[in-house]
Amino acid sequence: MAGPGYSFLGDEERNNVNKVLDTWGLTRFAYDVPNFTSFVRQTEEAFASLADVQHAIAVNSGTSALITSLAALGIGPGDEVIVPGYTFVASIGSIVLSGATPVLAEIDDTLTIDPADVERKITNRTKAIMPIHMLGAACNMDALCALARHHGLKIVEDVAQACGGSFRGRRLGTIGNIGAFSLNPFKVITSGEGGLVITNDTHLYQRAYAFQDQGWFPLRRDTGNGDILFGLNLRMAELAGAVAVAQITKLDRVLAATRRAKSALLSRLELPDDCPIQPRRLNDEEGDCATVLVITCSEREQAKRLATTLGSKTLDDSGRHYYRNMSQLRLLGDRGKSSSVFHRHYAGDPVLRVLPSLTQTDDLLGRSIGVSIGVSDRYLGAGFGISVRDNDATIDARARTLCDAIFSAL
Ligand SMILES: Cc1ncc(COP(=O)(O)O)c(C=O)c1O
Repeated sequence: MAGPGYSFLGDEERNNVNKVLDTWGLTRFAYDVPNFTSFVRQTEEAFASLADVQHAIAVNSGTSALITSLAALGIGPGDEVIVPGYTFVASIGSIVLSGATPVLAEIDDTLTIDPADVERKITNRTKAIMPIHMLGAACNMDALCALARHHGLKIVEDVAQACGGSFRGRRLGTIGNIGAFSLNPFKVITSGEGGLVITNDTHLYQRAYAFQDQGWFPLRRDTGNGDILFGLNLRMAELAGAVAVAQITKLDRVLAATRRAKSALLSRLELPDDCPIQPRRLNDEEGDCATVLVITCSEREQAKRLATTLGSKTLDDSGRHYYRNMSQLRLLGDRGKSSSVFHRHYAGDPVLRVLPSLTQTDDLLGRSIGVSIGVSDRYLGAGFGISVRDNDATIDARARTLCDAIFSAL
């Protein structure tokens, strides 16, 4: 159970790790180690250059990348951040940890945040939108950027599930104000645990750097004018950096493999245009990371039958990726019941008092199934699929199973 980058782990990662072990330069600030060059710093430089962005910061997880991004934007208590009801709990958790109020929005048939519902959810407390490029595919960034411009909002892109993906030729994570990535084992590329923050805004970079490294100026070098902040220690470790930098050089190869596998599977399915079971609509076909093939049925019962035949689940049964499964959310606005002292200020918050009902999201997730391409993660609801290393014969056989299951579900 892992993401596609995991199957590309090899000598490059091992050699880098051995270099760390040879010197015991375990932290990016191992200045006392002779001839030390930091793999964490190389990770940042390689990722910034790949994404063609001015600044990248390597951190210890995708969750840390999101919290750092929100802190850089100065988002906190009293602010609202609009986030879809279909995302991993970490996206919503990072907003809660920042002290702001998460306002849940619907997804549309792409299974990413619905810009029309975002517009309905904007209030005078809204500070930011957090689009999640869910299951490898881009949100409608044109519509979201237009809303953000019109209402003076910031955009924090959660690119945890779509590293290397793009929207209309622009790399995901570079379109909003700041982008957050995860390098956990289920992601497109991995360093075991890890994350990245990218931005073209030098002021945001300075604040983000400070937040994940105890208030220091970037790289602990610059002591120029800037915000003086308290921060945390969310730094990436050198051992993770050693793996991350090797994986970054493989990102294009990993994506070529997922895209090849997905189109091989799709071409064998040959679903007629009028078939009521179809792949989800994508906002950008070419930019899709192709890590999951989402299939949406016209009726809930069809989807249940299809899932049962495949030994899989519908996406409303994918653990803490669906707002209804996040019991923490229900407690948050409930006076006295909040699970953490950090959250006392939420008691009685009018937005959180009642868990919203996202009927469009409920309906779409109940009718959709994820067929894994490179991401094998039952927790995400993708219990059936192919892997990037599968040969044509295996893909043929899986396509036949899928096709038969689709026609018997009709
Ligand atoms: C959409 C999304 N955001 C954030 C995260 C958090 O990443 P991490 O597990 O590296 O903290 C994940 C991880 O699964 C995710 O899927």
